[in-house]
Amino acid sequence: MTTVPLAPPRRLLEFTLDDTPVRVPEGATILDACRAAGKDVPTLCHGDTLTPKNACRVCVVEVEGARTLAPACSRLAEPGMVVRTDTERTRHSRKVVLELLASSVDLSTTPRAAEWIKGYGAEPDRFGPEARRLGEEPRVDNDLYVRDYDKCILCYKCVDACGDQWQNSFAISVTGRGFDARIAVEHDGPLTESACVYCGNCIEVCPTGALSFKREFDMRADGSWDEEAQTETTTVCAYCGVGCNLTLHVQDNEIVKVTSPHDNPVTHGNLCIKGRFGFQHVQNRV
Ligand code: SF4
Ligand code: SF4
Ligand code: FES
Repeated sequence: MTTVPLAPPRRLLEFTLDDTPVRVPEGATILDACRAAGKDVPTLCHGDTLTPKNACRVCVVEVEGARTLAPACSRLAEPGMVVRTDTERTRHSRKVVLELLASSVDLSTTPRAAEWIKGYGAEPDRFGPEARRLGEEPRVDNDLYVRDYDKCILCYKCVDACGDQWQNSFAISVTGRGFDARIAVEHDGPLTESACVYCGNCIEVCPTGALSFKREFDMRADGSWDEEAQTETTTVCAYCGVGCNLTLHVQDNEIVKVTSPHDNPVTHGNLCIKGRFGFQHVQNRV
């Protein structure tokens, strides 16, 4: 069971969102207001457990009186502001962002990317095959994670989750500059020679599947990964006294992945190696 801690009530402020007055608590972002109003603003680098990075700009909206478009995921709502989420300018900007990303990165496992590309009329192919950034094979150097940097949009979420925002292991960083910038562990070497503690918290926040669980990677490769057929059961980890909530993803009567609810006040979606990967004994039935 997920519990929600009590907090003092926050003052409400009012502003105009797509010609409709809306009220949100102080400290809410424009994206929070959009989601509360049922508006579908695309996001990629935004993470509900991380500080906004403003890296992808696919969420931009128009704020009346502002010279530039504003990222909805980080811009706080202010009283009296007038915001438009679906104008020619926002649609054009999102289209170009999607074209630049999809021309250089493999977005095939990014949830909803194909739908957005179609919906915004993006044409990634117009930049030609030379726009591809890396063109390298997935890195499979351990039994738990796969790193497929051809799918990386350089959103920095894994860097923040591995660093001071959650895990404090600092195994992941950005190496190179400009077009050569890429995510890497120390000396761009194997994960097994890095400071990685195999918590899997980077995979949890990765929006594109560039970082994935080995089991999921293998099942996708052999065509057996089927999210529609999976059930989710949330329980409590029994390995230590912290008592993290675990969500077991089960397909064909086998645990295929373990996550934790992002709104859980203990884990905020994070786990350690035991809770994340210590489930094999449950299904060794021989
Ligand atoms: S590996 Fe994933 S989380 Fe990390 S920067 Fe790339 S896309 Fe973002
Ligand atoms: S996931 Fe790790 S920290 Fe959390 S209860 Fe299990 S063993 Fe303890
Ligand atoms: S989702 Fe807002 S800048 Fe990336």
